[in-house]
Order: sequence, then structure tokens, then C-alpha cells
Amino acid sequence: MVGALSPRADSQATPGGGANAAEAAGRRAGRLAAIAGAAERLRPWLIEQRRDFHRHPELSNREERTARVVAEQLRAAGLEEVRTGVAKHGVVALLRGARPGAVVAARADLDALPIQETLDVPYKSLNPGVKHACGHDVHTAVQLGVARVLSQMRDRIPGTVKFLFQPAEEGAPLGEDGGAAYMIAQGALADPQPGAIFGLHVAPDLDVGQIGYSLGPALASADRFLVTIRGRMSHGAWPQDGIDAIVVAAECIGALQTLRSRRIDTREPFVLSIGKIQGGTRSNIIADEVTLDGTVRTHSEAVRAQVKELMREVLDGVTAAHGARFTLDYRDGNPVTFNPPELVQATLPALRQVVGQAQVIERKPVMGAEDFAFYQQVVPGFFYFLGVRNTAKGITAMIHTAEFDVDEECLVVGVQAMANVLLDYLERAAASP
Ligand code: NI
Repeated sequence: MVGALSPRADSQATPGGGANAAEAAGRRAGRLAAIAGAAERLRPWLIEQRRDFHRHPELSNREERTARVVAEQLRAAGLEEVRTGVAKHGVVALLRGARPGAVVAARADLDALPIQETLDVPYKSLNPGVKHACGHDVHTAVQLGVARVLSQMRDRIPGTVKFLFQPAEEGAPLGEDGGAAYMIAQGALADPQPGAIFGLHVAPDLDVGQIGYSLGPALASADRFLVTIRGRMSHGAWPQDGIDAIVVAAECIGALQTLRSRRIDTREPFVLSIGKIQGGTRSNIIADEVTLDGTVRTHSEAVRAQVKELMREVLDGVTAAHGARFTLDYRDGNPVTFNPPELVQATLPALRQVVGQAQVIERKPVMGAEDFAFYQQVVPGFFYFLGVRNTAKGITAMIHTAEFDVDEECLVVGVQAMANVLLDYLERAAASP
């Protein structure tokens, strides 16, 4: 796997390597120009396609229309192998190049969020209470654009490109399967299995025209936990007859925060937040039960495992000290989104050629999460960020807000970036022995 990912160093070049290098440079320049021209010609179509998705946002696992449009557009682009109904509304399509070679995958997500649009734009959401507030309309339009561009270049593609259009990135409704893990379970990464997978996400903290990346961890693991603390009910004036679950819960909350301050390596990013607390019945009744609902985020699977264990230890000690009991329902969510450094380093030249060296920016990893991480557990994957901010146009809102929007210039940039990344990967794989 690593061999195919590593660009050949000049120092290892055999005699005649100079000619090979010149040949590779020529091929690269040709590829860049061909993709740039094709992406530019797609500009009006990309904008209209993104606006169509934006007008018709659909919630997680309900992406019926979006998936239908995606499949139609893929077929219109000339892709013959379009599989629909994967993990509910997912679409997986293959684009076979004219020459044999490796397989590479790209992933876009389809779902929107339960947020009421407040923007007054010609393409505002027609679906009350639902909005593409995380840019998945952009991701899907860009990936359709990539399929169109590469479909016109089959003769120069050594290998196969697999396109994954994934539902429910934001999380399936309670009780339903969904998202990346479900796509994998339904064979999205099999037959053929790609050698690598790439994904991009809009970034409102980067200007349009910029691309961001992180080496190693890029986004956090995100787990949910539900703690139930059980005491004993009594009259509020006779607390000695009961076990006050509220007082015990308060101690648990404080003690859990000491995991951050006193137990976990201070150099390791880690967040434990309790977002919801519920308990008690009345002012003069000692509560017999309190539930705490929260999230744990880390950038390391080792820290994640350690936190899980320490939480149990702390809850066990604190509740025992008061004669209370507890249950911990710890639900694993997305793993750490981890970009293997060798894959990132091998890919960066292609991104730098598209937007320019200074526009490719290394970013600190964030504590947000992405289910792209599940694909990375199966094959090496690189998840990078596409700038969408334009301060002059007032486009600065954060994702997951009612005001979120993008500078649509990002569409052509996104198509150029991803098309080059995919083709560059296949060319490198074809060039390595
Ligand atoms: Ni998103």
C-alpha cells in the first residue's frame, strides 16, 4: 500500500530518470490544463446543480430526491455502472479508464440539517425547517462535476474511479442504520476495493480558493454517553432517609472534568461535555434518579479508550461514596478522522498545482467529527478542506447555522482539486513498480 502511495524520490531515480521526470511533468501539465478547461466549462452547470440541491434539502436517510438526481446525472455523464439504494439512498458508481490500473475512490455526502433557512437568496431552501447548512450540496455537486470531467478523459485514465455518494453523514434517525459504516457494510468499498479514498468538506474559515489539510488527525472521534445515577427518594426535609441523586450527579460532573485537567495527558486534545441533565420531580422531594447526556471527543484512539475506562472508574468511586448506583451507556460514534501522513504528502503536490503553493494551508485539527473516518479504517483516506469564505461578499457564517452559505467560486476549485487528486493518484500508482 505504501509503495503505491509514495512518489518516487529523485535521488532514487535510475539513469534515464531525468527523461522519466520530464515525461511525468509533461503529463501533469497536460492533465492540469485539461481538467482546468473542463471544470471551467462546467461552471454554470455546477452552480445550477448546487442550487438545485440547496433548494431541495433532505434530512439524513431521507435523501430520496437527491439520490435520484445523482444517479440521473451520473448516467448522463456516461457512467454505466451506477448502483443505487446502497445503505438506503446511497449511490456507488464506477468510472473505468481506458487503461488498466489501480482503483481510487471519492466520497461525497448527501444529507441536510433540520435548520430553518434565513438567507434570502434565489436558491433558498423550499423545504421548511431543512437546510443544507453543512455544505453537502456543494460536496455532491462537486463530485458530480468530477465524474463529468473524468468521464470525458477516460482515454488518459489508468485505472478505475469509484464514486461514493453517501446518505446520513449527520447521523441516522434513532433506531436506523446509516452513514459511512452502513455504506461499508453494504459493500461500498468492496468489488473493487479502492487503494485509497478521498473526501473534501467546505470550510468557512478558509477563503474561497484555499485548501486546508491536517497531517494525521484531522477531526475528532465523537462518542455519546448516557449516565444514569440512581439514589433513593425521600422527603426534602428528611434527606438523611434518602440518597440524593442530584447531589451525587453534581459531584460526578465535577469529577468527570478532572479527567481533562488531571488524568489525561495534557498534550492530548480531549473534550468531555455534558449537554443535557435531567432528574428530580419536585422542590421538596429528594431525587432518586438523574441522567447525564454527553459527548467525548479525542484525536487519538488510545486516549478514547482510556477516557472510556476512566469515566467508569470515576463514576464508580463517586457514586459508591454516597451509596448510589450508576449505569454508563457509552455509545461509540465516529472514529478519529486520521489522514495517513504518507498519503497526504503524496497528494499535496497535486493540490498545490491546482490552487498554488501558498493557498494550500496546513490547519490544526478540530474537535468536530466526520464519518469519513470509517472508510479510513478500511483503506487509507485523505479528507481535506475546501475554502468557501468571501468576506467582501459577506459570506462568513459558520457551518450548522441558519446563515451558512458559500461563495460558489468554490465549485470549480473543488472539481479541479478532486479530479486532479484522483487522477494523480492513479498516475502515481501506474508509475510505481
Ligand atoms: Ni458536513
